[in-house]
Amino acid sequence: MSRRSVIVGTGGALPPRIVSNADLAERLDTSDDWIVERSGISERRIAEPQVVTSDLAVEAAEAALAAAGLGADAIDLVIVATATPESTFPATATKVQARLGITRGAAFDVAAVCTGFVYALSIADSLLKTGPYSRALVIGAELFSRILDWEDRTTAVLFGDGAGAVVLEARDEGERGIIVSRLHADGRHGDLLYVDGGAGSTGTVGKLRMKGREVFRHAVQNLANVTEEVLEAGGVTAADLDWLVPHQANARILEATARKLGLPPEKMVVTVNRHANTSAASVPLALDAAVRDGRIRPGDLCLLEAMGGGFTWGAVLLRF
Ligand code: UT7
Repeated sequence: MSRRSVIVGTGGALPPRIVSNADLAERLDTSDDWIVERSGISERRIAEPQVVTSDLAVEAAEAALAAAGLGADAIDLVIVATATPESTFPATATKVQARLGITRGAAFDVAAVCTGFVYALSIADSLLKTGPYSRALVIGAELFSRILDWEDRTTAVLFGDGAGAVVLEARDEGERGIIVSRLHADGRHGDLLYVDGGAGSTGTVGKLRMKGREVFRHAVQNLANVTEEVLEAGGVTAADLDWLVPHQANARILEATARKLGLPPEKMVVTVNRHANTSAASVPLALDAAVRDGRIRPGDLCLLEAMGGGFTWGAVLLRF
C-alpha cells in the first residue's frame, strides 16, 4: 500500500449575517423568483466590514482541527486557496499559520479562484506523499462580497462569503485517502470571468465581471470531462460513487453534472441554495456540511470537482 493523504477532519466558517434574495431585490432590479429559477440560490452570508479573510480561514481551520482531535502543533503545511486575500503579501496562509501558533513547515496561498480548493488539495496531497510533511491544513477562504459590483444584478446575486477547511494526514496504511486528482487550466478564457483591477502592481481597485451564460456552457462541458477523467484514472465508475461534492455555483450546473454522470440527485451535496457561490470555500464548506450531518462517513467514495475563473477546473477522487 502506497502512502495516501487522508482527510481526518473538516470545518467551516460562515458569517452570521444572512442576506436573502428579497433583501437584494430591495436595492437591485431582480426578484427571488429569477434568482431561484436561474441559479438555485435563496440566500448567502455576507461578512461585516471589519472581517478579514484570515478570520474566516482560522475559524474553519480550528473547527477542522477540533474534528480531527488534533492541536495546531500537529500541522506542518498550511495552504490557503483564495482569490480575495487581505493583502498582496504576506500570504493569507502565513497569517493563518501565525494565528494558530504554528512555526514549522511551509505555508502559502493558491490562486485558482473557484477551483482553488481542488488545486490546493491536490498540491497538498503531492507534498504529503513526496515531501517531509505529515499533516496539512487545506483551506478555502473567500470574501467575494468585497469584489462584487453591487450595482450589477448579473453578478451581485450569485456570490457569498465563507471558508472551509480540511486536515489532511499522510498515512502508510489503510484504504482511505486521495486516490487521484486532475487539474486543468485554459487561460484563453480569462476575459469571461475576471476582476477588472485590484492587483497591487497596478494600484487599481477592481470588481468581478462575468459573462455568465458562456461560463455556464464551459462549466458543464469541462466538469463532465474532468469527472470522467478522474473516474477512469481511479479505475471506478460513477455508479461506485457514494457522494459527489461539487463546486456550488449554480443548481442547474450541479444537476447537469449529476445527469451526465447518471448519478441520482440524492448522492450530490448541495449547499448553493444557502451559501450561494463562495468560490474556493464552496467545496470544503459542502464537504463539511455533509460530514457534520452524517451523510458522508469514513470509507465513502467521494468525487470533488470545481471550475472557475482562468479558466481553471479540476477534480479529486478520494475515499473519505
Ligand atoms: O464559480 C465560477 C463559475 N461560475 C458559474 O458557473 C456561473 C455560470 N453562469 C450562471 O450561473 C448563469 O449563466 C447565470 C445565473 C449567471 C445567469 O443565468 P442565465 O440563464 O444564463 O441568464 P442570462 O445571463 O442569459 O440572462 C437572462 C436574462 C437577461 O435579460 P435579457 O437579456 O434576456 O432581457 C438578463 O439581463 O436575465 C437577466 N438577468 C436578470 N434578471 C433579474 C440577469 N441577471 C438578473 C437578475 N435578476 N439578477
